[in-house]
Amino acid sequence: MDHTKEKIVVSGMRPTGRLHLGNYFGALRNFVDLQNKYKCYFFVADLHALTTAAENTDDLAANSEQMVIDWLAAGVDPEKCAIFIQSHVPQVSELTTLLGMITPLGWLLRNPTYKEQLNELFRKKYAGQEDKVAAEKMAMLSEAELSEMSSFGFLGYPVLMATDILIHKAAYVPVGQDQTAHMEIARDIARRFNDIYSTDTLFEPKPLFTSVPKVPGLDGRKMSKSYGNTIDLGEDPAAVRKKVMSMFTDPNKQRANDPANPEGCTVYAFHKIYNPDYQKRCEECKAGALGCVACKKHLFELMEKEITEFNKRRAFYESDKALLNKILERGAQQARESAEATLKEVKKVMKLL
Ligand code: ADP
Ligand code: TRP
Repeated sequence: MDHTKEKIVVSGMRPTGRLHLGNYFGALRNFVDLQNKYKCYFFVADLHALTTAAENTDDLAANSEQMVIDWLAAGVDPEKCAIFIQSHVPQVSELTTLLGMITPLGWLLRNPTYKEQLNELFRKKYAGQEDKVAAEKMAMLSEAELSEMSSFGFLGYPVLMATDILIHKAAYVPVGQDQTAHMEIARDIARRFNDIYSTDTLFEPKPLFTSVPKVPGLDGRKMSKSYGNTIDLGEDPAAVRKKVMSMFTDPNKQRANDPANPEGCTVYAFHKIYNPDYQKRCEECKAGALGCVACKKHLFELMEKEITEFNKRRAFYESDKALLNKILERGAQQARESAEATLKEVKKVMKLL
């Protein structure tokens, strides 16, 4: 890692399944840009995955490994940044305990993501049932029943996330806009710690939002694994082609030469990403100069080369587990050193040392 780069960047992703193009254009591609400018720590947030899936950890290790393979194939460079698994840095768990002592419970209970994720957990529990039925059941649950479904670790999610960031004294944290509330709590915890102990040990980090905040999924909603509307990294080109051909388009366009509105069309959103000439496509679409099928075929042609090359790089890392382990061991070593330094400072300030 280049230690002449002054400012520090930290970010993580939960290994809850395969990454998709929304994750790639919304977050991962930004990691690759940032690694050239800052000292970066990128980690697989396996402890955060446990906050909602502690009862079934069968897929956790495989998901973590697949995530790292995607990162490497996307160009996250282990020579430029530390890539590691969160739980391989035990200092994080220790500092989480300490910062938990100064975090008011109200901050966690008021965290809007807490209720939203609880909702999501509930929805999964009743998967297969109508959303409406699930919503009604949810509304009938008392506070006591709700808190029975949740856990200490789940409520403490923001403290763990704040620790991930503060332990490396990060200046910037590239995240999606859905993480705004968590970032506020991280800043508040840093400030409160510094106030209580009259110190400047912890830095207040700033979120860095990406230029593609919302990639639409096949059905036009936000691409998300919980909606089942994703194109995943590493998918076979033939499967991607099928998905592209099924993408949501302007429902008012009935015939190939009907004029249409490209805004709101998933195919056009992807042209904006893959097609340097997307403005021309916008005009063609509005003028009814091109049918959706031709437009989709063209989009897939633009995607195919990138996908094939990505999959090749993926296969390379997939086939070399020894290299993968070496990268993760080295990344964890770098992260442990940085984390240990902050942890020591914190313990000194708290008079534990
Ligand atoms: P999912 O919604 O599929 O569960 P996550 O919440 O795990 O995805 O997201 C991981 C990262 O990818 C976050 O930084 C998030 O903001 C970003 N991200 C996820 N979906 C999209 C999307 N459709 N468009 C842009 N960014 C996204
Ligand atoms: N909460 C983040 C998400 O769901 C993942 C995460 C955990 C994270 N710790 C972090 C992101 C620290 C940035 C920095 O996407």
